[in-house]
This record gives sequence, structure tokens and C-alpha cells, in this order.
Amino acid sequence: MPFTVGFVLAMAFVVAQAQQMQSNISRGSSLTPTTNSSWLSRSGVYAFGFYKQGNGYAVGIFLAGIPQTTVVWTAKRDDPPLSSDVTLDFTSDGLSLTSTQGQSFMIEYTSGSSASMLDSGNFVIYNARQDMVWQSFKHPTDTLLPGQILFPEDELFSAKSESDHSTGIFRLKMQADGNLVQYPVNTPDTAPYAYYSSGTYGRKNVTLNFGADGHLYLLNDTRSNIRNITDGGLPADQATVYLVRIDADGIFRLYSHDLNHNGSKVVWESSNDKCDPKGVCGLNSYCVLLDLEAECRCLPGFVSADQRNKTSGCSRNLVADACEQKNKTFTYTMEELESTKWEDISYEVLTLSDKEACKRACLEDCNCEAALFDNTSCRKQRLPLRYGRRQVLTSNVALIKVATSTTTPDTNRISEKRSKRKGRTDILIISISLAAFGSILFAISVVVLCKHNVWAYKKVNTPIGDSEWNEDIALRPYTYEELEKITNNFREEIGRGSSGTDEPSLRPSMKKVLLMLEGTVEIPIPPSPNSILSTI
Ligand SMILES: *[C@@H]1O[C@H](CO)[C@@H](O)[C@H](O)[C@H]1NC(C)=O
Ligand SMILES: *[C@@H]1O[C@H](CO)[C@@H](O)[C@H](O)[C@H]1NC(C)=O
Ligand SMILES: *[C@@H]1O[C@H](CO)[C@@H](O)[C@H](O)[C@H]1NC(C)=O
Ligand SMILES: *[C@@H]1O[C@H](CO)[C@@H](O)[C@H](O)[C@H]1NC(C)=O
Ligand SMILES: *[C@@H]1O[C@H](CO)[C@@H](O)[C@H](O)[C@H]1NC(C)=O
Ligand SMILES: *[C@@H]1O[C@H](CO)[C@@H](O)[C@H](O)[C@H]1NC(C)=O
Ligand SMILES: *[C@@H]1O[C@H](CO)[C@@H](O)[C@H](O)[C@H]1NC(C)=O
Ligand SMILES: *[C@@H]1O[C@H](CO)[C@@H](O)[C@H](O)[C@H]1NC(C)=O
Ligand SMILES: *[C@@H]1O[C@H](CO)[C@@H](O)[C@H](O)[C@H]1NC(C)=O
Repeated sequence: MPFTVGFVLAMAFVVAQAQQMQSNISRGSSLTPTTNSSWLSRSGVYAFGFYKQGNGYAVGIFLAGIPQTTVVWTAKRDDPPLSSDVTLDFTSDGLSLTSTQGQSFMIEYTSGSSASMLDSGNFVIYNARQDMVWQSFKHPTDTLLPGQILFPEDELFSAKSESDHSTGIFRLKMQADGNLVQYPVNTPDTAPYAYYSSGTYGRKNVTLNFGADGHLYLLNDTRSNIRNITDGGLPADQATVYLVRIDADGIFRLYSHDLNHNGSKVVWESSNDKCDPKGVCGLNSYCVLLDLEAECRCLPGFVSADQRNKTSGCSRNLVADACEQKNKTFTYTMEELESTKWEDISYEVLTLSDKEACKRACLEDCNCEAALFDNTSCRKQRLPLRYGRRQVLTSNVALIKVATSTTTPDTNRISEKRSKRKGRTDILIISISLAAFGSILFAISVVVLCKHNVWAYKKVNTPIGDSEWNEDIALRPYTYEELEKITNNFREEIGRGSSGTDEPSLRPSMKKVLLMLEGTVEIPIPPSPNSILSTI
């Protein structure tokens, strides 16, 4: 009994000590990148402090128990990396950073007295009366943790890359009108720029909430659930950490981190199409999905600014002023990019249903650098073109004015053609197979038809010149009607004349062959040679 009491007391003491040391941070405490680099939460899951960033350090909150750096919040994310000689001091006015360059504030507040890295992942500052004067949950960067709320007008901004946590090019906004929307950065909050929306427009004071079971949902003014974004109901145990983040690629994802197995997995994502985020490819380039990955391709006549950087976009490989039509060094043509979608900022819209007319209209207009054609309208564009992506099942065609000069080789077009060729290999194989099949049938029918023709010729009394005779004997295409007439309404079956030893019941009629070629009737699997042999 005394042992048990003693043990419980000892445990309480250990817990109290841990809390004192790690969770209750008093004024005057400090951190440096190399020694005492972070303050841990009581459970040890989260840490506030320095983490490695580029060739230096950054200050933020990260998952402490796992080897891979999973950063959930960053202070002053767009500041350059810090050197290893800095000191972070907890003062009453803020967390101040002192280096050989001088002093600056990382986080500012008034009358801070103590701080705590909470087990929820929230880093909080209290005044002497224990009121919260600052909390990281109110200043989100790209991530939300369970219990954290995105209030009206709040935004999450993606990071530049997985390893660079500075502000990237996508945002998720909890709009004052109740809609939760994803946009590229530096765009108005309007529908043409959106690439994801919760569809809850027209409600006041809506918040995005995140439950401990991975449940992501929207609450209205009276705290009624108006939309479930994820279902939730996931196991909420000590070893699992959930987080939602707008990733560097622009997609909003719910992750589950298993602390025991160092693993993380995507539980939900706002889209599984990596070409969805507008601006994933830079100016004058368009996104194509290849094995579920986004690949960026340049417009015809354009070259990539930086092959390794998707967002760097493309520029003309030949700078030619389209208004200098008289300059005979260049000729202009309109190149087609089928099934692509772009931002439409047309300066003139023509009602045209003819693609060639649209091409001509752009060629004749020296201000026109491209045109978007959709069967009914021709929309003239100036460059740059943005938010391009391939979209199957549309008849939209982008027509690009390309200047060509005989002296400059067009390298980009070659690579474009090469990749097209790669994509068309399957079609090619199928075409060759069909062509081979067709040729065999054609050869057979020619033999039959020639026989019929000779017969028909003999029956006709009117003399026919040698040339016509030769033409009739030679291979030539026949119309359906002609074939019908010649073959006596297809009553004659093919093959009999050419090879009388085949099994007639296995041979398709001429009519059926034509239907097969049209695709109306399925092509039967040829019988095995054995079955033919057995019938002979
Ligand atoms: C932190 O410690 C100080 C003094 O050690 C104490 O006054 C304060 O109440 C503690 N704060 C919390 C949140 O426990
Ligand atoms: C780290 O912090 C602890 C407790 O605050 C202190 O005792 C220790 O001296 C510090 N170590 C260094 C190297 O500053
Ligand atoms: C929005 O709702 C919160 C509670 O959910 C409330 O505190 C706040 O005052 C409301 N704001 C407006 C503008 O109605
Ligand atoms: C919140 O949503 C509930 C359920 O849809 C609805 O009954 C209620 O009127 C809404 N409250 C406000 C203030 O819109
Ligand atoms: C959201 O899901 C919860 C269960 O997790 C359910 O009770 C609620 O009715 C759902 N709300 C909406 C708006 O679908
Ligand atoms: C997780 O990481 C720790 C520390 O690096 C390592 O000791 C442990 O074996 C890892 N566990 C698994 C399942 O990979
Ligand atoms: C990629 O290019 C864009 C636009 O030129 C630039 O802002 C960005 O920093 C580049 N990214 C990298 C990783 O170099
Ligand atoms: C045509 O344009 C090129 C490039 O802009 C320029 O070098 C050349 O002098 C021009 N030729 C004439 C005849 O204007
Ligand atoms: C566009 O025109 C082509 C060719 O006339 C036609 O095949 C296609 O169905 C049309 N698409 C739409 C959406 O009207």
C-alpha cells in the first residue's frame, strides 16, 4: 500500500516536473538552433522552436516524435533562413530574435508572462492573469490541426515546396459569404479563378472546423453543421495525428500520421486531378496528366523557361512582331492545340462556327496572338495565356499564332511532336492491326470482284477501251451500292473463288464484313486451325 501511494506520488511529481520544464515556459527562457532548440509539448508530440530550413534555420511548430520534419506552422515564413548564431528570447513584448545583425521580433504580443506548447499543437502565450494574449491557432499558415478553426476571411496559403515553407502559389479561403474556396494567389475572390468550392455560398459567419476524429465540416452562425467535407469517424488515439494542409501542388489534403510507424497517409483530398489547381503550370504552358502526375507543356512555338520548374512557364522561341507583317523574314501560321482549356481574357469575340475562319481572323489581326475556338465562337487573345490544361471531352481548341523563320530550327515543336508520338503508340498499334486485317479482306474481295467483273464485262456488248478495261481490273475503291450490284446483293459469299477448301460456314458474308469494318458488328474470334482441320 505505501509503495503504491509512493509510486503515484512519484509519478505525479514526474508529470508535474515535465509540465514545468516543457509546457510552462516562463519569461526569460530562450532557444538557440543548436542547443535547447525547442520546447516540447507535454506528450512530446509537438515542438515549438528551430528546425532546419534550406541552408539555415526557421522557427515554427513541428511533429517532434518522427524523423521526417513535418512542419505545421512557421513564424515569419517568408523571411530568409536564420544562421546558427541566433537566440530566440521570450520577453514580455514578444519572442525576439537576437543575432550579430541585431534584434527583431518573430512574434509580437503585449504583456506576455508565460507560454505553453499545448498537446493540441497550439503554441499559446498568457499574461500574468492567465489570459491568452497570442496563439498560433489564430495565425495559420498552410495547415489546420484538430480543434483549430478557420474563421470568416481567414486563409491558408500553400508552401512553396515540401521542404521550403515560404508562401507558395495557392490559397484556401473561408469566405465571408459562407463558401470555402481554393484559388491561386494574387487573384480576385471570383468564380473564374476558383478550382475548388464547398458550394455553401450565401450564408453568414460560416467557419471551417476540424474534429479529433478527422472530421472536417462547416458550421453556420448558430453552430449547425451545414456541410461535411470529410466524414470523420477515424480512430482518435495517442499514436495518430491528423492534419489538413493545402499542399504546395494546390490540393487540400487530410493526412493521418502514425507516430509508431513513422508513416503518413492521405485520407482525403479536395481533388485527385493534379491539373485542377489553376496555375500549376506557368504562363504559356498547359497541364497534362501523365500517370496521375501533372506535366507542363509549352504552347507550340514556345520553350520552357526552366525545365525543372513547372511554374516558370514558357516563352516564344522566336520573337517576331506579328504587326510587322511586311517583314518577310517570318511567316505566320496557326497551330492547333486540341482539347485544352484556358483562362479567357479575350479582347474580341467573333461568332464563328468554322475553325479555319477563326484562324484566318487571328492571322489577319496583328494584335491577335492566339484564339480560343469552341465551335460557336472565336475568342481572340493576347499573350500570356494562363491556367492552361488539357481537358478531354471538350471541342475547345486553342489556336496559336506561330512565326516561323527558315534560319532558326524549332526545337520545341520537335519535342512536342515526340511526346505526342509516344502517346499515340497505342492508337498506332491498333491502326496497324486493323489495316492488316482490312488488307487481307480487301485482297480476298478483289479476287472475287475481279472474277465478277470479268464475267460482267463478257456479258456487256458495248466495246470498252483498253484503258477502262485496265482500270476495272486494277484495284479501285467501290461504293456500297456498287458492291451490292456487283455481288448480286451480297448473295455470293467471299472466298469461294479464291480458296475452295475452306469451311464455308465459318466465313462471314460480304455484308457482315462491311458491318465489321464499320464497327456495327463485333469481329468474331477466328476458329482455331484444329477445328477447321477437323471439318475438312
Ligand atoms: C507557469 O508558471 C508560472 C510560474 O512558474 C505560474 O505562475 C503560471 O501559473 C504557470 N502557468 C501555467 C499556464 O501553468
Ligand atoms: C537548456 O535548458 C535547460 C533548462 O532550461 C538549462 O538547464 C540548460 O543549461 C540549457 N542548456 C544550454 C546549453 O543552454
Ligand atoms: C460569428 O459567430 C461567432 C460564434 O460562432 C460569434 O462569436 C461572432 O460574433 C459572429 N460574428 C458575426 C459577424 O456575426
Ligand atoms: C444554420 O443552419 C441551420 C440548419 O441548416 C438552419 O436551420 C439555421 O437557420 C442556420 N442559421 C443561420 C443563422 O443561418
Ligand atoms: C455530417 O455528418 C454527421 C455525422 O458525422 C451527420 O450527423 C450530419 O447530419 C452530417 N451533416 C450534413 C450537413 O450532412
Ligand atoms: C521510426 O523512427 C524511429 C527513429 O528514427 C526508429 O527508431 C524506428 O525504428 C522507426 N519505426 C519504424 C516502424 O520505421
Ligand atoms: C519557379 O519559377 C517561378 C516563376 O519564375 C519562381 O517564382 C519560383 O521561385 C521558381 N521556383 C523554384 C523552386 O525555383
Ligand atoms: C525583320 O525582323 C527582324 C527581327 O525583328 C529584323 O532583324 C530584320 O531587320 C527585319 N527585316 C526587315 C526587312 O525589316
Ligand atoms: C464541334 O464540331 C465538331 C465538328 O463539326 C463536332 O464533331 C462536335 O460534335 C462539335 N462539338 C460541339 C460541342 O458542338
